[in-house]
Amino acid sequence: MEETNCETTTIILYSIYAKSQRKKRPSAAANLLFYIDLPKSPYSPKYSILDAAFEADMGIQDGWNAEVCRVKNRSKNGKQQQNEMQFRTIEPKILYFGTPVALVSSLNEDETTDLAPISSFWALGWTMILGLLTETKTADNFARHRECVVNLPSPEMWQKVEKLAPLTGKNPVPDLKAKQFHYEPRKFEAAGLTPLASEIVKPMRTKECPVQMEARVTALHQLAGDRLEELGGGVGAEVEVVRVHVASDFILKDSYIDPTKWSPLIYNFRHYFQLADEDLGKTFRAET
Ligand SMILES: Cc1cc2nc3c(=O)[nH]c(=O)nc-3n(C[C@H](O)[C@H](O)[C@H](O)COP(=O)(O)O)c2cc1C
Repeated sequence: MEETNCETTTIILYSIYAKSQRKKRPSAAANLLFYIDLPKSPYSPKYSILDAAFEADMGIQDGWNAEVCRVKNRSKNGKQQQNEMQFRTIEPKILYFGTPVALVSSLNEDETTDLAPISSFWALGWTMILGLLTETKTADNFARHRECVVNLPSPEMWQKVEKLAPLTGKNPVPDLKAKQFHYEPRKFEAAGLTPLASEIVKPMRTKECPVQMEARVTALHQLAGDRLEELGGGVGAEVEVVRVHVASDFILKDSYIDPTKWSPLIYNFRHYFQLADEDLGKTFRAET
C-alpha cells in the first residue's frame, strides 16, 4: 500500500474479515481509526484498521479481505486530514436549505380560514417575516385582513402537510400554478386537520400543531429579484406575534420550548426532514 494513495483517497471502512469467513463482520466505528479485535488478528494493537484494511484489500495481508473503505484523508505521517473542497458554479433551481415548515392561517372573504404551508420565514424577537408568493390566497388575504396564525407542525405531520401542498384557496387557480394545483376552499378538511378558535385573531389555529402563534400583519414588503418575478413575484409579510400557544408536554420552565422534546418539521430541498435526536451543543446564551 503506497502512502500517496492514503493522502488522496477518502475512505470509509465497511468491514474487514478473514477470507475463510463467509459472514462479514461489520466494523461498528467504521469511519474512525481503530484497532482490530477479530480473533487471531494478525495485526498488533498499534496497527490501525485502516492500514489493515488497505493491506487486506490489496491482498498484501494474506488470508484477510476488506471492503472498500473511506475515512478522512491521511497524510504520510498517518495523521487525518480534511479533504480540500472543490467548487463549481451552478444555477440551483431552488435555495431551500432546510428551514422549518409553518402552516399559515389567514382569513378568507367569507370568514373561513385558509391554511397554507410555507417554509420561508424567520423570527427576530416576536417579529416574523413570512415569504409569500404574490399568487397565493394567503397574500391576498393578508392584504385584506391583517391577521394570521403561524402554526408549526411536528415532523410526523409531514403527510398532512403534503396533502395541503397541491391546494390553493385562490379561485380561479393562477395560470402559473394551474398545471399542478387545484382550488380547495376547505383546507382543514382536505388535510384531516382540526380548526381551533384563536383567542385574539380571527383566523383559526391548527389543533394538531404543537406550536400556534397568533399574529398581526404589520407590513407587506414588496420583494425584488428576477428569479422571484418568474414565479409571479413575492412579498415579505412582517407580522408581530401577539399570543403563543404551546402543547403543555413541550413546555420547559414555563417560558421555553424544550428542544429535546420537540423540534419542527424541516423542508430541505423539497424533501421533508426531521432534526437529529441529539443536539450538537448549545450557544453561550442558552438558559436551558
Ligand atoms: C413545505 C412547503 C413549503 C412552502 N413554502 C412556501 C413559502 O415559503 N412561500 C410561499 O409563498 N409558498 C410556499 N409553498 C407553496 C404554497 O403552499 C402554495 O403556493 C399554496 O398553494 C399556497 O396556498 P394558498 O394559495 O391557499 O395561500 C410551500 C409549499 C410547501 C409544501
